[in-house]
Amino acid sequence: MNYPVWQVAFGSGWLIAVVATLHVFVSHFAIGGGLFLVLLEGSAHRHDDEALRAWLKRHSRFFLLLTLVFGALTGVGIWFTIGLISPEATGRLIRIFVWGWAIEWVFFLVEILAILVYYYAWDRMETLTHRAVGWTYFGAAWASLAVINGILAFQLSPGAWLQDRSLLSAFFNPTYFSSLAVRTLVCLALAGLYALASLAFTRNGLRPDLVKKSAVWVAAPVLLLPAAAWWYLRTVPALQKTALTEVFYLPHLARTVMVSVSLLFLLAAVAWFSRSKWILRPLSVLMLLLGFAALAFSEWTREDLRMPFLIAGDTYINQVPVARLAELRAKGILATSPWVSAAAVTPQNQRRVGEELFRLACSHCHTVRKGLIPLAPKMVAVDETFAANLALRTDQMRGRMPPFPGTAEEARAIAHYLRLSAMPVPQPGDGASVFRRRCGPCHTVSGAFRPLAKSLKGMAESELSDLVQNLDSMNDKMPPWTGTNAERGALCAWLAGQVKASPVGGAP
Ligand code: HEC
Ligand code: HEC
Repeated sequence: MNYPVWQVAFGSGWLIAVVATLHVFVSHFAIGGGLFLVLLEGSAHRHDDEALRAWLKRHSRFFLLLTLVFGALTGVGIWFTIGLISPEATGRLIRIFVWGWAIEWVFFLVEILAILVYYYAWDRMETLTHRAVGWTYFGAAWASLAVINGILAFQLSPGAWLQDRSLLSAFFNPTYFSSLAVRTLVCLALAGLYALASLAFTRNGLRPDLVKKSAVWVAAPVLLLPAAAWWYLRTVPALQKTALTEVFYLPHLARTVMVSVSLLFLLAAVAWFSRSKWILRPLSVLMLLLGFAALAFSEWTREDLRMPFLIAGDTYINQVPVARLAELRAKGILATSPWVSAAAVTPQNQRRVGEELFRLACSHCHTVRKGLIPLAPKMVAVDETFAANLALRTDQMRGRMPPFPGTAEEARAIAHYLRLSAMPVPQPGDGASVFRRRCGPCHTVSGAFRPLAKSLKGMAESELSDLVQNLDSMNDKMPPWTGTNAERGALCAWLAGQVKASPVGGAP
């Protein structure tokens, strides 16, 4: 909590996601596209194919503009946004990988110089020298990926670094090689996708041989991707992998990626046979969109696997270093943060301070009313004590949140502020709704997330009622029951029926 928070209206997570996905889409193309250019230039040279050379020259102009201008701008954009949104974690990444960044920037410089020379010297250099420049470009571009990949993979799986703090452990972490394999395949497939689009929209006649070649550039890596993705998932730490079953949308996301990748393969086969620009034009655009979707969703999945951390095991997404958590919980956020307006919660400042605390502790993943997982509507649905108890137990709820980094008064201030930020709407009193409000944040009946059916199996409604009345005496992770008697009655009647009907439940 050493820094002020930049609160983005629609959720800061979205902003990073948009900038980063655009950058990844272009920067991976910048690598595969480089290889595509030099290899095809070699082929043009061997077959003395002037038309191919001319097309490659035009393609390399598009390539230069897209990768240098758009790629470099969005790259700087990432630094800008993560520096503002996650200053603590960005600072840590810079410090841990000082030499990594330095090396990456050297590669990046070589990459920029090489592509400029490559483009401007098409007709002024001997083919062999020109191709050497092209290879230099590709080598430097891939090497800069190999470096950045180490840092990105580290955030998800810091592995032995958490104990030994060595740069090598941090860099060659458990997901380093598998994610490098996935990313390299993505680079190659993107080269094919952009080439198809470039061929389809060129003013000259269509070259079926080049279309076929580009289609293979898409299809071959796409065919290998599932194996690489499987390897990647195997290397993801077990703790992070539980999200794939517990976070309800992640399996859908993973399936969306698989479907778009399979579709890409099929469409690449269609492209292989295409002889007309009028087919290839919409087809190549569709394929680019699919490629973009697959990439965006896989990056999203990877980021979500890492929750609630920015650097797994080291820094939470709300900028709380794991090492400082105990101190923050004991002394409070207000007492330990330089950028707040009060040193303690009082009845007078509760609302204003609650807003500041929300911004510091929750706004990285939540909005207040509209946008990314708005919290105010959830908080007005229950009484303030229960809402405060939920805020204090963020790490027990679904959603893989960081532990609450402050005191009970501070959690109450957040709940107070949030409850004042939405209009109360009448809450249905049926058992299912009561369960959703008062147990649902932390339990399912018989789903994947902390299911209850097994332990409630065979309990009578009256026993259930006693249990609910004394929840907090069972363990301190659960908030005490603060609902009405009518709510409790409805809940227990409904719960008894559900447990009975669930496969693990039934009569004893
Ligand atoms: C790492 C990101 C993250 C942070 C930080 C975070 N949350 Fe959440 N929170 C989530 C996600 C994701 C969900 C949605 C869970 C779902 O619906 O599956 C959620 C859901 C919730 C819910 C609703 C639970 C339910 O099922 O009704 C509450 C209440 C909540 N968060 C409170 C907070 C509070 C208070 C803070 C700050 C102290 C906070 N969260 C910080 C990610 C986060
Ligand atoms: C803030 C989160 C939270 C809420 C809300 C919550 N629980 Fe729990 N509950 C937990 C946690 C965490 C455990 C497991 C503790 C452990 O295993 O150490 C648990 C355990 C239980 C258990 C013990 C058996 C088991 O399966 O682990 C029962 C029964 C239970 N909860 C019922 C309920 C009911 C009924 C409600 C709603 C009225 C409820 N809980 C609301 C967090 C919560």
